Amino acid sequence: MKTANIVLVTGPGGDAQGWGDMHVTEAVRDAISANGHECRVVWAEDRAELEAELRKASVSLVWSSLYFFSGRADIVGIPPDAVWVADVLDALGIPYIGPSAQTMKNLIGKFDTHEILVSHGVRVPRHRLCPPSQPSEVDFFPAFVKPNGESRSVGISEKSVAETPDALVAQVEFIRRELGQAALVEEYLPGKEYTVMVIGNGKKREVLPGQVTVPPERYGRYPILRSDMRGVGLTKISIPQEHREEAAELAAAACDALGCDDHVRIDMREDASGNLRIMEVNGIPGLKPGKSWSPQIYALYHPVADPYRALIGTIVNCALERAYGER
Ligand SMILES: Nc1ncnc2c1ncn2[C@@H]1O[C@H](COP(=O)(O)OP(=O)(O)OP(=O)(O)O)[C@@H](O)[C@H]1O
Ligand SMILES: [Mg+2]
Repeated sequence: MKTANIVLVTGPGGDAQGWGDMHVTEAVRDAISANGHECRVVWAEDRAELEAELRKASVSLVWSSLYFFSGRADIVGIPPDAVWVADVLDALGIPYIGPSAQTMKNLIGKFDTHEILVSHGVRVPRHRLCPPSQPSEVDFFPAFVKPNGESRSVGISEKSVAETPDALVAQVEFIRRELGQAALVEEYLPGKEYTVMVIGNGKKREVLPGQVTVPPERYGRYPILRSDMRGVGLTKISIPQEHREEAAELAAAACDALGCDDHVRIDMREDASGNLRIMEVNGIPGLKPGKSWSPQIYALYHPVADPYRALIGTIVNCALERAYGER
């Protein structure tokens, strides 16, 4: 295998938007080096900084923890004038890991993702995009109210489940006030939760379902992953006993509908009838070694000596093949 020059891009939004903080970026870099490639980390706060760094040496492939440049470390908070890293790389003609610029934009807004999936016949919950002025159009209760463009369960609490129109209006207003964005209101999915990692492309694509569980006593009134339950080692991932085929088929159909590449992770739950429905597709899944769901799932299905190195190596190789052909 030929050695590639790989640049990892991160910045203030690396944790909120992408695979994790600088420690995670360094772990990814070390795993890429261990796979025999050259790899350096670039911290970029805007387009000019990234372009200047990329001009310094030849680059075979970029892998970004940022969807777009942002000074915000606390939330994704997509501004209307966002500059997307994938757009910059397309303009420079540099290949990158992960979905295309257009797919990234479709994934970060959950309403857009749902609409594309619906148009391809892929199951999602009933849903409405609710700017603060029009929440009354929702006619399904209980409803689940969440920010349209966040991650890590930001903005999710017991109050996300609205049993009444008044509770819904209050939560839509909370999301506008605290997170400055529209709310996505979905049918509440009361059943078990799954997350499916999809890695590789074409015939080499692997679709690996995991079930997400939390000790039941940690839930409040509803079995949902609140923001206070994320990133604290509470969630457990296992190979599903039920719905394994269904989860894999749904995830594969979603990837085909959205045009996903290299690595995405798709979250889904059972609806009231026991059918799985997709909640979201993560375009830059978490990569914290041993902690994030993708590395955990990969290790369950690939019990090798160093599953993290194998995971990172597989993602890099499939992107190199996509960009440069069989290597
Ligand atoms: N329609 C729904 N019905 C029930 N629970 C839901 C629904 N949508 C989201 N949830 C709960 O809220 C959690 C966070 O929602 P979601 O996965 O859509 O957002 P996220 O914060 O972007 O997640 P991630 O951290 O995976 O990027 C889910 O893991 C799930 O427990
Ligand atoms: Mg999720």
